[in-house]
Amino acid sequence: MEFQNLLIENKERIQYIIINRESKLNALNKDTLAELHLAFSEAFRNPAVGGIIITGAGSKAFVAGADISEFASLDVEGGTALAREGHDNVFNLIANGSKPVIAAINGFALGGGLELAMACHIRIASETAKMGLPEVTLGLLPGYGGTQRLAQLIGKGKAMEMILTADMITAVEAQQFGLVTHVACPEDLLPKAEELLQKILTRAPLALASAIRAVNAGYIDGVNGYETEIVEFGKCFGTNDFKEGVDAFLGKRKAEFKGE
Ligand code: COA
Repeated sequence: MEFQNLLIENKERIQYIIINRESKLNALNKDTLAELHLAFSEAFRNPAVGGIIITGAGSKAFVAGADISEFASLDVEGGTALAREGHDNVFNLIANGSKPVIAAINGFALGGGLELAMACHIRIASETAKMGLPEVTLGLLPGYGGTQRLAQLIGKGKAMEMILTADMITAVEAQQFGLVTHVACPEDLLPKAEELLQKILTRAPLALASAIRAVNAGYIDGVNGYETEIVEFGKCFGTNDFKEGVDAFLGKRKAEFKGE
C-alpha cells in the first residue's frame, strides 16, 4: 500500500511505521491519522508481521502533536468528532492491537505525539527526546487519551502537573517517571527497539496477544481484569504454541512458535 505521510519498512518480522512529515515535525493531520489507521489495521492482519516499531522521520521529532493548522475551523461538534474518531481509529486500535507495538521516540513527542507513543505497548526514547502535553497552551486539553494514559503510566499527581503546566520533560525524567523504559543515544535508539522486539518475537504470538488483552482489561471501566486474565489463560491451553512451548521445555530445546 502506498502512503503519502508514512514510510513502511519491513525487516524480517518487524514492520517499521515511520511518520514522514518532517517539515511539519511529523504533526498528525487528518490524512496521516487516516493512513495510520490503514497501516496498523494491515500490520495487525498481515501474518508476516510479528510486531511494529513506530518512529518519526528525521532527528528532530517523533510527532510534535496533532496538526494545529487543522484546528482553527473546528467547533464543539467538530472537536468532539475529531477526538472520538482518533480514539477509535488510531489510538485504541494500537493500544488494543494483537501484536506488540514499540514507540521509538526520536525527538519531540508532544500532545497527540505523546498520546500516540502512550497508546503503544512499550516506549523507549532517544536522550534528545522531549515529551509533554502542551494542549492547555492552545486552550485545549489532551484529546487522544492523554488525560487517561499519562495518569495510568506515571500516576495522577505527576500527570496532573505535566498537563496543567504544559511543561516538557526530558528522556531521563521520562524514564524516572516510568513513561519510557529505556533511554538510548540517537544512533542506538532503533537498534535498542529492534533488540527488544526481536526478543518479544521469540515468544508465543497468541500468548503475547492474550497478555496485551489481559493487561489492558484492568484499565477498562467495568471490566474485571482478573476475570479476563483467567479466560485468556485458559484459551492458551487450546493453542499449538502452548503444546510446543511445554514440549520444547521438557525436551530441553528452543521452542519454535507458529502463532497457532
Ligand atoms: N501542528 C502543525 N504544525 C506544526 C506543529 C503542530 N503540532 N508542530 C510544529 N509544526 C510546524 C511549524 O508550524 C513549522 O512549520 P513552518 O516551517 O511551515 O512554519 C514546522 O513545523 C517547524 O516547527 P517550528 O515551530 O518552526 O520548530 P521549533 O524548533 O521552533 O519548535 C516545537 C519546535 C515542537 C517546540 C514547536 O514546533 C511547537 O511548539 N509545536 C507545537 C507543539 C504543540 O503544541 N503540540 C500539541 C498540539 S495539540
